[in-house]
Amino acid sequence: AELTARTDGLFQLSWPQVTPTTRTTEHTLIEVPTGNVHDVTEHILTTLQTHLTNTTDNHLIILTRNAVNTPTPDLAAAAVWGLVRTAQTEHPDRITLIDTDDTLDPTTLTGNEPQLTIRNGKTHAPRLTKTPTPQPPTWHPDDTVLITGGTGTLGTILTRHLIETHHIKNIILVSRQGKTPHTLTDLNANITTTACDTTNREALHQLITNTPNLTAVIHTAGIVDDALLTNLTPQQLHTVLATKTDTAHHLHELTQHLNLKAFVLYSSLAGTLGNPGQANYAAANAYLDALAQHRHTQGLPATSIAWGLWANTSGTTQHLTTTDHARLTRDGITPITTEHGTALFDAALGLNTPTTIATPLNLTTISKNPTTHPLLRNLIPRRTPTTTG
Ligand SMILES: NC(=O)c1ccc[n+]([C@@H]2O[C@H](COP(=O)([O-])OP(=O)(O)OC[C@H]3O[C@@H](n4cnc5c(N)ncnc54)[C@H](OP(=O)(O)O)[C@@H]3O)[C@@H](O)[C@H]2O)c1
Repeated sequence: AELTARTDGLFQLSWPQVTPTTRTTEHTLIEVPTGNVHDVTEHILTTLQTHLTNTTDNHLIILTRNAVNTPTPDLAAAAVWGLVRTAQTEHPDRITLIDTDDTLDPTTLTGNEPQLTIRNGKTHAPRLTKTPTPQPPTWHPDDTVLITGGTGTLGTILTRHLIETHHIKNIILVSRQGKTPHTLTDLNANITTTACDTTNREALHQLITNTPNLTAVIHTAGIVDDALLTNLTPQQLHTVLATKTDTAHHLHELTQHLNLKAFVLYSSLAGTLGNPGQANYAAANAYLDALAQHRHTQGLPATSIAWGLWANTSGTTQHLTTTDHARLTRDGITPITTEHGTALFDAALGLNTPTTIATPLNLTTISKNPTTHPLLRNLIPRRTPTTTG
């Protein structure tokens, strides 16, 4: 029963085969190039802006290769998936996102499945599914854990959890300002707070080099700068991307030699479902999920947790209005309490899978919603067909 409680709200992304309805529409095919995450996402952002501001324009098909549903994702293309998933929430039924292996013509696949992968001539769609049962966590009191963004709301909750529940003695909190939160002063552990902009590779290198016996890295640093996609500036895209993606990539490279036991990335449900006004943030989080997959395939520790909304107000969620909260409730997204969130953290780490989605969902609400998000379709009980006669 305890394990059930811990995994309630924990999901993974699966790719069942589907037979989408086909539709012949006037379409514009946009091929996503390969390259650096900043360049590629900016290119797709500006291309989408051109098409979406012209309301009479065609249906758009965004075509990627190796972005998702692969053990070796192209990280930039994965970020494009986050960006486009948000574009789809802002412009319903205008865009189909397809990751292809070139074994099927994508141009008729603009029907009821807005996101698809083509593999060996078959189509697959993303769906949230329940996770398997996790193993217990394997922390040791002598572990030294570095937490980027450790002074923030979730970083502070995590620090308390690691100390009180797992008895970890050495924690390094990193943030640009580097001020120890006053809420942590009662804790009996060696907490060091360091001022470091983690997007700065050299500064981060110094910090890691000067940390003896580092055993785990948890990347929670993140910022938001919301705008609807058609108003989003390249500057807003790059700053929000950098905090998550550049930091994550630096951490990935700078800790290769350390034999870490955990490498955790705080990602967001926005990267998986898309979220209106957060194309930049969704892109950044989808990149984190892909980096975790990439590391996992290389045999390195990796856990990306795509969190839903936490109940505690924080830097990344304080701007949410009553309307935003009402929309989330309508979508069945239940806020995560501290107790549940820390249990989900432990469970996600015990799954030994690179990407996990952590969000309690109200399935009753979701099943009543006439426009259930396509990724949630498999979670709601199928309606029994009624026969009339
Ligand atoms: N809260 C939620 O409901 C929620 C939901 C889904 C995902 N998440 C994710 O969880 C993480 C933590 O979120 P939060 O809500 O706790 O946010 P928060 O309270 O705003 O904390 C963010 C932390 O990141 C630090 N930071 C920002 N930019 C940095 C940089 N360049 N270098 C070093 N540190 C930096 C901030 O400190 P300084 O300002 O001093 O740098 C702060 O400590 C984020 O990655 C967020 O995307 C949160």
